[in-house]
Amino acid sequence: MLMVLDRFRLDGRTAVVTGGAAGLGQAFALALAEAGARVAVIDRDPATETAQVLGERGFSVAADLAKEEQVAVAVGRILEWSGGKLDILVNNAGIATPPARLLDVSVDEWDRAITINLRSMFLVTKALLPELIASGRGSIVNLSSYLALVGVYPDFPVTAIPYATSKAGVVGFTRQIAVEYAKDKVRANAIAPGWHLGTKLGREAEGKISTEEYRRFADFMESSVPMGHTGRPDNLVGLILYLASDASSYLTGQIIAHDGGITAA
Ligand SMILES: NC(=O)c1ccc[n+]([C@@H]2O[C@H](COP(=O)([O-])OP(=O)(O)OC[C@H]3O[C@@H](n4cnc5c(N)ncnc54)[C@H](O)[C@@H]3O)[C@@H](O)[C@H]2O)c1
Repeated sequence: MLMVLDRFRLDGRTAVVTGGAAGLGQAFALALAEAGARVAVIDRDPATETAQVLGERGFSVAADLAKEEQVAVAVGRILEWSGGKLDILVNNAGIATPPARLLDVSVDEWDRAITINLRSMFLVTKALLPELIASGRGSIVNLSSYLALVGVYPDFPVTAIPYATSKAGVVGFTRQIAVEYAKDKVRANAIAPGWHLGTKLGREAEGKISTEEYRRFADFMESSVPMGHTGRPDNLVGLILYLASDASSYLTGQIIAHDGGITAA
């Protein structure tokens, strides 16, 4: 009989984590490796620290995932490393756009968010789907955001329409893949995180938020997150292991908010 905790083990499996150089992606890569998987990370930044901790279990490639030719090269190198095997894909790479309401959002900001947050997910998934199908137990986990599920009040200048829209796109992308490839035994689910601090997300907004705006953000955090505080990247590792492993073998097409209760309030 299979012991319950064994269902979370990933021995013999191979995973790819995009955006694994830092933040949530790094936490995901290390957790998957700890559960037994071999893990390749792709990031536009060098994933030196992640690669060092992963050691022989890991592999890292630098690529801008919004660029089709760079995705093709990175995927080719990873499949060479893995012997053509892949069981788990975590589409985590993403950017946040600087805070602004719609009238102040430039077309360039819109294009950048959609390109990096959505186009890259399409390119990477398309390139690796044949191997996930061949696995017979493929699992895709996409990073959306709670901002795909609810709006934040209009004078709260911490996020913007391009980001929220791109993350809502991830919801449709996830559900459609889940349905299209369910008979091929590929599952697809998404995580919609609330605020998990300690990552580099939003670094582009640094210096653009006034002290007053930051104070309002901190007040919002305390008053509007039912649990009363933000999350940390390592709060998400249990969920990634659940979604990546056989522990969730009958779960597909779901968007799981991980947000201290914001979307329940
Ligand atoms: N941290 C949060 O509170 C939070 C909340 C909701 C959603 N998310 C989502 O989780 C994911 C990870 O966020 P994070 O907080 O760890 O951010 P982060 O900035 O710390 O990490 C994102 C990683 O993606 C990489 N990346 C960005 N654009 C890339 C590109 N074009 N090609 C290759 N790599 C690229 C970055 O170099 C970085 O290493 C993102 O998709 C983000 O939108 C995070």
